[in-house]
Amino acid sequence: MRERLLEILPEFNLIQDPELREKTIRVWEVALERGGWTPDGLLQMPFTLLINPCPASFIEHVRAVTLTAYRSAQLFGEIYGDRVPINMDYLVAGGLLHDIGKLLEYEGREDGVAVQTAYGALIRHPFSGAALAYEFGLPMEVQHMIAAHAGEGDKLKRSPEATIINKADFMSFEVLRDLQIKKEPSAKLG
Ligand SMILES: [Fe+2]
Repeated sequence: MRERLLEILPEFNLIQDPELREKTIRVWEVALERGGWTPDGLLQMPFTLLINPCPASFIEHVRAVTLTAYRSAQLFGEIYGDRVPINMDYLVAGGLLHDIGKLLEYEGREDGVAVQTAYGALIRHPFSGAALAYEFGLPMEVQHMIAAHAGEGDKLKRSPEATIINKADFMSFEVLRDLQIKKEPSAKLG
């Protein structure tokens, strides 16, 4: 399972610190196991239940968010230099883990449709994801990025890394969501 996971998510290799990389992979493995998913199953899992039909898989979303964040931070480094310090290892770990709680929030029905679990209805993925990261000893900075990446985090003061992940996530979400907006809005009362 680990080999396949690293194959479809090569971004784990962007984490330079071997201990952080290992912990990040470990959280993924445990979430897959607890949620009853496989790496290949996640290539078929919609990344959100809020866009139906959903044009991207969970794995594509995680890669898009992680790489959008990573390359944005590289650009910041080129332009702003040391004035905007970004921990690239935390950024990548946070990108890879920001939605990890969705493996517990969603389940695949037999007909292939993804639905929310009873657990997920009560504990949304920013909470379950941060809890998983805490359980496996990820740094508090990475726990913060997971906890603060979605709307729940709007009341917090986000770290620079958490802000980048939050924006990268919403860029991916909103662009894909709005592909479905009809040119001529219409509605029926009912
Ligand atoms: Fe999310």
